[in-house]
Amino acid sequence: MKVYICEICGDAYIGSEKPANCPFCGARSNFIKDGAEARPIVNESIEISEESRKNLMETLDLEIDANAIYLCMAGKAKEYRITAMYKRLAKVEMEHATIVTKLLGLDAPEAKESACPDSDIENFKKTIELEDHATNLYREFVKKSAEKNIKVFFTALAQVEEEHGELIKGII
Ligand SMILES: [Fe+2]
Ligand SMILES: [Fe+2]
Repeated sequence: MKVYICEICGDAYIGSEKPANCPFCGARSNFIKDGAEARPIVNESIEISEESRKNLMETLDLEIDANAIYLCMAGKAKEYRITAMYKRLAKVEMEHATIVTKLLGLDAPEAKESACPDSDIENFKKTIELEDHATNLYREFVKKSAEKNIKVFFTALAQVEEEHGELIKGII
């Protein structure tokens, strides 16, 4: 067994091999390093510009909303597989919100409640919409970020949200 650390969320993964994606924030394996080599972005305090601060606050709201709606969808799903998937998506989105609060030095995020459609198919469509929106927004934020760590953060997040969209497109 070895200790691997995700440079996006800073969480440790203990296992015999590096996972393809961080189980906590979903970042791809290129962001996961051997424990001794990892330099997580959440551990480095950097100056954050007004522009990046604004983009991170928008990200925080979006991720907290995503957590809430996915928990609602988990509760509406007819199949356990879908319930479990939405619970995991909700946790990943809350992890994204948590990373933002660490980058900005804020208190941990508070979960909200949300309504959602009753049918799985409506929820899948809504999920694809939300994930496509997040992917495009974070790609824009990559371009607008002057700070290397913030650029890295939005690059990783854009990939995660894109993969979430692909996951749902593969189900419907
Ligand atoms: Fe991670
Ligand atoms: Fe997210």
